[in-house]
Amino acid sequence: MNTYTTTSAQETRALGERIGCGLKGGEIILLSGDLGAGKTVFTKGIAAGLESLDPVVSPTFTLVNIYKARLDIVHVDLYRLDSQEVWGLGLEDYMDQGHVMVVEWGDMARDFFTGACMRVKIEYLDETSRRITVEAPWTQDF
Ligand SMILES: Nc1ncnc2c1ncn2[C@@H]1O[C@H](COP(=O)(O)OP(=O)(O)OP(=O)(O)O)[C@@H](O)[C@H]1O
Ligand SMILES: [Mg+2]
Repeated sequence: MNTYTTTSAQETRALGERIGCGLKGGEIILLSGDLGAGKTVFTKGIAAGLESLDPVVSPTFTLVNIYKARLDIVHVDLYRLDSQEVWGLGLEDYMDQGHVMVVEWGDMARDFFTGACMRVKIEYLDETSRRITVEAPWTQDF
């Protein structure tokens, strides 16, 4: 488990970018943190690290966005779902080596994501600071 304190959105994005750079495909990254914590900012960093040119936008209403990248990214937001509805999204189809899945409010569906997942918790400290805890079941330097 690694804990970081960032003091700007740019720093949070940079942390996501470092993690994105090292992904190999098939990873699932569950993001937790309150509204406005920085989950989407962090996802933009992951997408940059995976060399995506697609705009990363919060899938709060669309539920699932796909971005072309070195490894295609499946960006999910579970905020508006109850914990059972995640089973109906067809996410199993993307759980292969060719994709990276990033899930905002991922802790809403703990019983769906039973395999190995990276967990990223973003805590609001003050207007510009966040504490970010990263727990990965695989070995990766970032
Ligand atoms: N250290 C920081 N890390 C990340 N974001 C920060 C930081 N400091 C300020 N911010 C600001 O906080 C906001 C985070 O917004 P973001 O949309 O990423 O949150 P979110 O967790 O995805 O929210 P939601 O639950 O609504 O999807 C942005 O406006 C960003 O500029
Ligand atoms: Mg968001």
